[in-house]
Amino acid sequence: MIETIKKAVQEKLKDHPNRLVHVMGVYETSTKLAKIYGLDVEKVGIAALYHDYAKYDTIEEQIKYLDLATIKAYAETPVIYHGFAAAESLEHHFKIHDEEILNAIKYHVWGRIGMSDVEKVVFISDSCEPSRKFYEAKVICKLAEKNLDLAVEAAMKASIDYLIEKEIVPSQEQMEIYTYYVEVNRGKTR
Ligand SMILES: [Fe+2]
Repeated sequence: MIETIKKAVQEKLKDHPNRLVHVMGVYETSTKLAKIYGLDVEKVGIAALYHDYAKYDTIEEQIKYLDLATIKAYAETPVIYHGFAAAESLEHHFKIHDEEILNAIKYHVWGRIGMSDVEKVVFISDSCEPSRKFYEAKVICKLAEKNLDLAVEAAMKASIDYLIEKEIVPSQEQMEIYTYYVEVNRGKTR
């Protein structure tokens, strides 16, 4: 299954070589973390490979298979659609209905409150895989080997800081999710 999905993703992103390098980096980092934490490596691998599958589809293509509630919920932040569209595509083309895999793909941009470890590992790896060159990336990946929740918080903070630097106001939902993980980690030594 992994090899078939890998081929489909390579074909889909063939005109976006940097994105493909990123996706393979997410695959490498997340499967490594999956082994450390005794998670299902195949599940993590599938989610990692497929998470950006719909990244370069037009918004029209992305929302074609989404329900109205999802379309409305993220009308102000359409960057979210590509995750939902990729999850739909995986279900449709590969008949994969595993909720952890689908959630890891759907929510890979901001994460979500109450992520499973499979979701956390994909979320963190998307932020810190080797082709991510921002300063904190290495710190986040190292932290992930010690504690997933601390790494989730650090990855969220890096993405919020990036938005602020670009003078983009993070969405309320993104801030709520971040605040949730700050709470989860309260009192932990870093
Ligand atoms: Fe990604």
